[in-house]
Amino acid sequence: MMRPQSITFRLTLFFSTASTAVLIVIGYLIGALVEAHFEELDLMELDGKLELVRHTLAEVRTPAGMANVPQNLSDALVGHHGLSVAVVGTERKLLFESPGAVFPAALLEGRPPEDPSTRARAVVWERDGQGYLGIAGAALTGITGQVPLTVAVAVSTEHHRLFMRAFHERLWLAIAASIALTALLGWIAARRGLAPVRNLARLTHGISASRLGERLPPESVPPELIDLAVAFNDMLARLEGSFRRLSDFSSDLAHELRTPVSNLMTQTQVALSQTRSADQYREVLYSNLEEYERLARMIADMLFLAKADNRLIVPSSESVDLAAEVRDLFGYYEAFAEDQGVSLTLRGAAPVRGDRLMIRRALSNLLSNAIRHTPRGESVNVAIEQHQSGEIQLTVENPGEDIAPEHLPRLFDRFYRADPARHKARGDGAGLGLAITRSIIAAHAGTIQAFSANGLTRFEATFPAACSHIDAAHPHDEPARAAEQGCASVMK
Ligand SMILES: Nc1ncnc2c1ncn2[C@@H]1O[C@H](COP(=O)(O)OP(=O)(O)OP(=O)(O)O)[C@@H](O)[C@H]1O
Ligand SMILES: [Mg+2]
Repeated sequence: MMRPQSITFRLTLFFSTASTAVLIVIGYLIGALVEAHFEELDLMELDGKLELVRHTLAEVRTPAGMANVPQNLSDALVGHHGLSVAVVGTERKLLFESPGAVFPAALLEGRPPEDPSTRARAVVWERDGQGYLGIAGAALTGITGQVPLTVAVAVSTEHHRLFMRAFHERLWLAIAASIALTALLGWIAARRGLAPVRNLARLTHGISASRLGERLPPESVPPELIDLAVAFNDMLARLEGSFRRLSDFSSDLAHELRTPVSNLMTQTQVALSQTRSADQYREVLYSNLEEYERLARMIADMLFLAKADNRLIVPSSESVDLAAEVRDLFGYYEAFAEDQGVSLTLRGAAPVRGDRLMIRRALSNLLSNAIRHTPRGESVNVAIEQHQSGEIQLTVENPGEDIAPEHLPRLFDRFYRADPARHKARGDGAGLGLAITRSIIAAHAGTIQAFSANGLTRFEATFPAACSHIDAAHPHDEPARAAEQGCASVMK
């Protein structure tokens, strides 16, 4: 994939293209205005000269006086350098032409407006590489009844042309310099404008695994970057959470393994410290076996959770009668419950689609926990309900000491025990049961929550409406996802 152009480059390019376009338009406008202004000045001058010639001609009162016209005009025009004048009479007879006059036929021959007050026609022409601007107009002599004469006046526009050429050169040079300058300023502005992004990158560089607690201060970034900073901080928070769980988990794991292993070592050392009878050795071995079994169970549980984390647990999809499973487990725990003086009750029934063995494992853990925590003489109540929406809810409720609210959200964490001191005393499990339960339910696109108040502890597991395709690939996804996938048909 091609790397996109740098933002600085793009901004500079855009900025200089825009300013180039604007400067070029301004350049043309200025050029045109100055030229128009010069033409206007020339025309005003020519108008004045035309008026002068008209005035001189109006002084002529008699036909004989016409002979003096050239002289009179020459006198009148003394000191008007660069001015050409021509007077044309009837039948295109040239009555006067100033020396070096260069009038084009179009100007002399065309009929000028009869009314002397109207503006004469302006003509621009070139001769021998020189530019000229001329106008022609009608003029009346003082002789009564005489037809108007045509007067043409012209000036050389060469000095204006030269000036305009130099002016254009300088103008376009200035414009080119301005373009270069705006490009440079644009580049500086873009770089300065992007400084907060570089700042953000610098701050980000400083964040490492050991400093995941750092956050980008959103109030110190410009408004455009707030979303980015907030998203980045959210990502950091998620990473920090995962990272903390992972490192907690490793230290918990080491801690959990240390006790049984040191138990085993101590027992073995004690057994070896003197000669024992075969029965004593057997006893030690049995005791060790128990410890090995606990270790093996823990390792198997860990393996299950690791697989679930890596989305390797693929639950089969069969119809599981929850009530039948619970009844079966009641049978299994009957002796244990009797021992604890706890009775077991079940209400309701509903089928779910899923992996029978896995669901059984989850239920078994909820039940064993509940039986263990129920005071003597009380009962563990399991309820299975199907909601209107098709969702199936399984509740395991038992009376007992409340679990403190701060423990509730963490019960499902690995190795988490609400009361570790009492735990040891009772010789309870590793604290992996609820983590596995949650993994299994999540693999069935369900959720589980714990509530504990007023002497009642309740675990509520919700399965989506008999889901036909369990998404094992995403065991931790929201249940909404499964519902979205069309887990609608509830088996009867
Ligand atoms: N019904 C309950 N009433 C009170 N506390 C409970 C109940 N169920 C679970 N707990 C608390 O939640 C903790 C975690 O339970 P979990 O099933 O994960 O672990 P465990 O039962 O101690 O060990 P394992 O299940 O791995 O053998 C328990 O240690 C206990 O403190
Ligand atoms: Mg348990």
